[in-house]
Amino acid sequence: MNKKAFIFDLDGVVVDTAKFHFVAWQRLAAGIGIDFTHEENEQLKGVSRVDSLKKILQWGNKTLSPEEFEKKLVQKNTEYLTMVESLTVADILPGVHDFLLQLKELEQPIALGSASKNARPILKKLGIYDLFDVIVDGTNVTKAKPDPEVFLNACDQLGYVASQSIVFEDSVAGVQAANAASMISIGLGDPKILHEADEVFDAFTSMPENYIHSLLKKHKS
Ligand code: BG6
Ligand code: MG
Repeated sequence: MNKKAFIFDLDGVVVDTAKFHFVAWQRLAAGIGIDFTHEENEQLKGVSRVDSLKKILQWGNKTLSPEEFEKKLVQKNTEYLTMVESLTVADILPGVHDFLLQLKELEQPIALGSASKNARPILKKLGIYDLFDVIVDGTNVTKAKPDPEVFLNACDQLGYVASQSIVFEDSVAGVQAANAASMISIGLGDPKILHEADEVFDAFTSMPENYIHSLLKKHKS
């Protein structure tokens, strides 16, 4: 059988944690007098913790000393982790578990390609850590999405090349990273926001029957 490297983003693709990142950043921003919207939040999705805070400060035209900046990063993550404590398997996004199991059945290689430094504990908490053959997360990369480093590293570790790789992403930065690597990009979310993706679905449950088989034959457009 044909094989491809299947690479999944974590937050907003595998698990419903994008909303926690949003709330944690919004509270932190409010504390320093900065307001931002759902639309602006799209620009934070997929973006590293440091780059997210830089963007928020830019929006509010504010600067922080290096010490304050570091303190805010810790504050955001502490708040985020408090919300993550309540995560259960019910927060795995619809259809994802089944999709991963189908890939396993077909002996297709699976990787995680996430900007998050919390990826490993979250996957372990949800009992799906072992479904991934390779995990590349925010602790393994130096360049944040939209740089393709995270996905190139993942496909490389799986022993595949970029043209044999398929990336599942909910963020504009992540879709751009996959495209920059010349990988097939499948968006999960709003097609208007993720218009740069090769295909977009609102959820894994909306993918057509036998979608994996058609992906195995698909080439980058
Ligand atoms: C991405 C999220 O997956 O990880 C971003 O979409 C987040 O919102 C980034 O900023 C870094 O995550 P963490 O958990 O290391 O702060
Ligand atoms: Mg994401």
